[in-house]
Amino acid sequence: MNELFERIKKILNINKCEIQINEKFIFVHINLHISIKIDDEINRKIQNIVYNHFNETSEYEDFSIKIIFSRSNEKIEKIEESKPAQESKKKKRIQGIKNIILVASGKGGVGKSTLSANLAISMQKIGWKVGLLDADIYGASIPTIFEVENKEIELNEENSIIPIEKYSVKINSIDFITENYEALIWRGPMISKALHQLLNNTDWGELDYLIIDTPPGTGDIHLTLLENYRIDGYLLISTPHITSLQNAKKTQKMFEKFNIQNCDLILNMNNVDGDENEKLFQKNENFDFIKYNEIFYLPFFRENLTALFCLNKKNEKIFLNIARSVVKLSEYTE
Ligand SMILES: Nc1ncnc2c1ncn2[C@@H]1O[C@H](COP(=O)(O)OP(=O)(O)OP(=O)(O)O)[C@@H](O)[C@H]1O
Ligand SMILES: [Mg+2]
Repeated sequence: MNELFERIKKILNINKCEIQINEKFIFVHINLHISIKIDDEINRKIQNIVYNHFNETSEYEDFSIKIIFSRSNEKIEKIEESKPAQESKKKKRIQGIKNIILVASGKGGVGKSTLSANLAISMQKIGWKVGLLDADIYGASIPTIFEVENKEIELNEENSIIPIEKYSVKINSIDFITENYEALIWRGPMISKALHQLLNNTDWGELDYLIIDTPPGTGDIHLTLLENYRIDGYLLISTPHITSLQNAKKTQKMFEKFNIQNCDLILNMNNVDGDENEKLFQKNENFDFIKYNEIFYLPFFRENLTALFCLNKKNEKIFLNIARSVVKLSEYTE
């Protein structure tokens, strides 16, 4: 508690910070000096601090977090119990999109974009209408994987972005709307705004599935998605190494705080074959510390020049199996 107070105090002068817990929620009540204004950026920073704090403390595993600000002359009141079911209904669905699936990892470079791309193509192959959104604000790579990075984006009559279509997948990326290859140093509110725009101002048409490739870790992109949109499941990807798995668990905790449990775990590559990969994972004493519905082991695909491994007949099956599993995964949400 003191630790959380101190962390927040580093960026904002606050009076008090109290925590109330009911059946499902942790309420973090932050009492501010009257003169202090909270802008979007500070709000986002505080949210990050609070979420990271509870991510690190294993004590509270299955809670959602609510942050409430008050001024120094306002009393901190007992908070009424909220109903998580109603809460989740308030989250937005995007018109025309039936399911949103996130691809997430704790660490960078473990294969999120590769998996997102191959999954999108494979879901299309089994008959679904699929969109793919590259939401990796700092390292968009979907356009490169699909070799569409130099395509000009066009707008429809309503000024919505017409996604680029390749392998019958509708693709949009933060990269399409920013200057190419420029290093992005964006503040939280700008990131959220860009993400809302990509989601809502794209002419997706009717989609059965929108796959979203997210950046590594648990940052603004994830919070914006989890706080505002109805998420129908996620793929957690990691290499079999303990460092990667531990970070994947932190990512999982973030999803759990938003009551999103439906997860498939993908154990990917790192210079070991699929079988070896499995053995390495299972040798790890803590191998079951991540909760998942299904687990898939992806080998290191040595022979391919592109990352679209599923286009090679030899590798098609594993990605089709993951695609079928994602369909089951999304059936868990009402
Ligand atoms: N199973 C695999 N076999 C061979 N190469 C792979 C495999 N999975 C991923 N790669 C390669 O590893 C590299 C990193 O993959 P990718 O870009 O998908 O990771 P990422 O998690 O999206 O990274 P970032 O966190 O930077 O967004 C890429 O060059 C990709 O082609
Ligand atoms: Mg990536």
